[in-house]
Parts: sequence; C-alpha cells; structure tokens
Amino acid sequence: MYLLYQLIALLACVACIACKPIQARDSTPVASTTYPIPSILTPARATNPLFSQAPLQHSTFAVNSTVAFGEMADPTNKYTLFRDGGGSCPIANRTLFFFDDTGAYINGTFKGFASNSISVATNFSQPNVLSDVSCTPATGCQAAIPWTSAEAATQGSPSKRYVLWVYTNCIPTGTNTAVHFWSLNKYSSDYAYTGLGNTMVQYELNATTNQLTLTRNTEVTFAPPTYPYGSFASVVVNGTAYLYGLDVTYNRNDVHLAMAPVGTITDLTTWQYYNASTKSWSSTMPVPSARAQSAAVIQNSIPFSTGTVFFSEYHNAFLLVFFDNYADSTFRVLSAPSPVGPWTTNNLAIWSLTPGPKGFDYGGVAHSFYYTNNGPAGKSLMLHYSYQDSSGTYPVANELTFA
Ligand SMILES: *[C@@H]1O[C@H](CO)[C@@H](O)[C@H](O)[C@H]1NC(C)=O
Ligand SMILES: *[C@@H]1O[C@H](CO)[C@@H](O)[C@H](O)[C@H]1NC(C)=O
Ligand SMILES: *[C@@H]1O[C@H](CO)[C@@H](O)[C@H](O)[C@H]1NC(C)=O
Ligand SMILES: *[C@@H]1O[C@H](CO)[C@@H](O)[C@H](O)[C@H]1NC(C)=O
Ligand SMILES: *[C@@H]1O[C@H](CO)[C@@H](O)[C@H](O)[C@H]1NC(C)=O
Ligand SMILES: *[C@@H]1O[C@H](CO)[C@@H](O)[C@H](O)[C@H]1NC(C)=O
Ligand SMILES: *[C@@H]1O[C@H](CO)[C@@H](O)[C@H](O)[C@H]1NC(C)=O
Repeated sequence: MYLLYQLIALLACVACIACKPIQARDSTPVASTTYPIPSILTPARATNPLFSQAPLQHSTFAVNSTVAFGEMADPTNKYTLFRDGGGSCPIANRTLFFFDDTGAYINGTFKGFASNSISVATNFSQPNVLSDVSCTPATGCQAAIPWTSAEAATQGSPSKRYVLWVYTNCIPTGTNTAVHFWSLNKYSSDYAYTGLGNTMVQYELNATTNQLTLTRNTEVTFAPPTYPYGSFASVVVNGTAYLYGLDVTYNRNDVHLAMAPVGTITDLTTWQYYNASTKSWSSTMPVPSARAQSAAVIQNSIPFSTGTVFFSEYHNAFLLVFFDNYADSTFRVLSAPSPVGPWTTNNLAIWSLTPGPKGFDYGGVAHSFYYTNNGPAGKSLMLHYSYQDSSGTYPVANELTFA
C-alpha cells in the first residue's frame, strides 16, 4: 500500500510539474465544522526552546530503553479501527490525535470508513489508550476534518474522492488554538491519486463547552511545486513558528523552511521564506522550477518520509526525529542549535523496529511533550508509527528513553 503510495506520488509529481500554484488568499472559510470532544486533561509542562549557544549534550543519542505499549485504541469503542499515519495536537491541556484512512469493523464486518479520524489521549502513562471521537457506533465513521462542498460531493466515489491525510503534529498558536497542515489528494482511479498540496486547518477548542471548531480558509494553502510548508514538521520558538516542507516535487532529500509569527500565522502575507545559501529571509515565496538544494535548510541528508522537530532540553538542541523514505522501519535523528541550523547530516539511527508481517512500518512521529513532567524535556519521547498487521494497519505507541 505504502510502496504503491510512493510510486503514485512520484507519478503525481511528474504530472504536477506543469501545475501552476493555486494559492487562494481570500479569508472566507471554505470549510468549517464544530463537534464536541471528551474533556480528558493531559497537561504537560511547557518547555521554552532557546537558540542554544552551549554545545550538544548526550550527542551519541544512545538509547537506554524502549517500551512498546501496542495498538493505540479506545477499549470502549465497539468498532475495531484500522488506520494509519497521524499526528498529535496539544491544545488547552488536552491532547488530540488525528489519524488517516480509518476503517471500522465489528467482528470482521465492515461498518464504515473515513479519510481521517480524531481521538483524544487519556493518560500519558498509557499512551496506547485513546478515547475515539469521530468513528464509533454512536457517531458513525465521519471525517474529522471538514470538506469543502466540492470535496464532499465526491466522497461516495472511490475513483473520484478527495482525501485529507496528516503525518506530523499541529502547531500550537495559543492556549486554545492551533493550526495543522493536512495534505489534500484527489483520486483519479480506484488506486491512483494526485497530490494537490496542503491545507491549513485551524483548530479552536472551547475549554468550557469542550466544542472543537475546525476551519479551512482556503482549499489549498501551498500547491506543488511550492514546498508544502508545515506538512513535514514545525516548531515554535519565542512566538515564531518555523514551518518545514519537503521538496516533494523535485527531491525529497531537501527540506525548505518558512517562518511566521504565531499570532498572524493564518495571514500568509506575514510569512517569510528562508534561503540557506544566503542565510536570509524573504517575504517572496519561492516557486521552484527545479531542485533548489542550496536554498534548503536541510541538505545532503537522505530522502525523508515523516518527521517531527522539537527542542530537547536533555540534548540542548533542536532535534528532527524522522523516518526516511526507504521503508527501513527506523527512527533516525538530526540535530541543530537553532531551527535554521546548521543541521547535522549523519541520519543517526536511534531505534530499528521489528516490522510486522507486511515487511515495514511507516509514519513515525515523535510526541516530545508527553514526558516533560518526568525530567528534562527530550530525555523520554512518545513515538508512534503505523504497524502493518496481517489483518490491517494500526498506530502503535512507544516510549523511548535516551541514555
Ligand atoms: C528566545 O528568547 C530567549 C530569552 O529572551 C532568548 O535567549 C533566545 O535567544 C530567544 N530565541 C529566539 C529564537 O529568538
Ligand atoms: C492548563 O493547566 C494549567 C495548570 O496545569 C492551568 O494553569 C491552565 O489554566 C490550564 N489551561 C486551560 C485552558 O485549561
Ligand atoms: C463477535 O463475535 C463473538 C463470537 O462469535 C460474539 O460473541 C460477539 O457477540 C460478536 N460481537 C458483536 C458486536 O457482534
Ligand atoms: C494513568 O495511568 C497510570 C499507569 O497505568 C495509572 O497509575 C494512573 O492512575 C492513570 N491516571 C489516570 C488519571 O487515569
Ligand atoms: C465558549 O463557549 C461559551 C458558551 O457558548 C461562550 O460563552 C464562551 O465565550 C466561549 N469561549 C470562548 C473562548 O470562545
Ligand atoms: C537563494 O539565494 C541564491 C544566492 O543568492 C540564489 O541564487 C537563489 O536563487 C536563491 N533561491 C531562492 C529559492 O530564492
Ligand atoms: C537507564 O535506565 C535505568 C533504569 O531506569 C537507570 O537506572 C539508569 O540510570 C539509566 N541509565 C542512563 C545512562 O540513563
């Protein structure tokens, strides 16, 4: 499935070299929805990432221990869910979890499907135990992220439908707010789809009513060949969001960077774009017509699949924890003293997983805020990834502790 995905992504890229950027800049929501989520508090200690002058600590990234908690699931949901990908979102002392392609079954009988789903974390000590929100017998299996009316109209057709998938965490922008970059794709047959770019989804949680409002101002925020900023990884430092995007059109080794004040992140006119060859920021968004390796903030690495950037107090550095694109089921790490680098290029393997019967795991993402109450942030990480079992794919939760 994932290899097929990569092949199709490659074909889609070729098709899209001719595409014009279609960034829409109007402020009218194209899609919005509100629904209740359970009020389960999982507060974490806030960390204050700094540009670090002192050297990297614990630079071997040796691992002391890992704990496998198994499938992330809601033990009270009568549906058995198979799903993949996904990322987390800390918001108002809650932790939201979003996943992709979610199928619901009871005793092997198909009950429903949605392009994505949402659950709430229940307890950082039991990271596998979730509370499902959008795919239960009571709700049916509903997409968590709102469709535009045009996208909604084709949902019934497997060969024409749109999908919204996410493979990283949200960007917290305030106590009760966050934005999250989702990839929008459209199928052109039952098996082939084209990447249309990413879409910024705004989250607002009312902590009194427990209503979550999700809004998209534009159908597509960054369309290829523009880099899908925020879809690969992101980190907030001193009120500035750093938004990393893979060059999915020309070369998946190159990570490009944008920044925006978190207070105005929904206003694209306040964004700036980094050119690593001049170490300078520009308000003009690059629209590449070829690979631009020297402008990439991370270069000379290996092709990336999924990743997460965060500040590790334990390592005194910003870390990129990632899976590469080789289906080798391995968490790797790069580090840097600041979000703009210089980033290491040694692709250090920190944890090689034993893949399931389908041969490899994918969708590896770190949730660095899980264990910040237990010691220096970054010493222990919650890591989740998609495990392909013979019956179906599901996310699994783990705790990794560095030595
Ligand atoms: C963030 O603020 C701290 C404290 O003022 C400062 O030391 C640090 O350099 C700042 N980082 C950035 C990226 O501005
Ligand atoms: C989150 O929890 C902290 C204390 O743990 C509290 O000070 C803060 O008001 C809470 N915020 C919300 C939105 O509930
Ligand atoms: C699933 O199958 C088992 C064993 O046949 C049965 O006991 C159970 O009631 C079934 N569950 C549902 C929800 O149908
Ligand atoms: C969280 O899980 C731990 C470990 O199982 C347990 O001791 C604790 O009581 C749980 N906390 C809550 C609030 O359920
Ligand atoms: C939350 O909802 C309540 C009830 O509708 C409303 O009074 C309050 O202003 C809302 N809070 C926020 C922060 O929007
Ligand atoms: C980055 O800067 C270099 C050197 O000035 C320039 O040649 C290149 O076109 C710039 N790239 C982008 C994407 O702006
Ligand atoms: C590794 O973990 C063990 C057990 O938790 C602990 O006693 C030991 O101090 C740890 N070692 C390092 C280097 O962190």
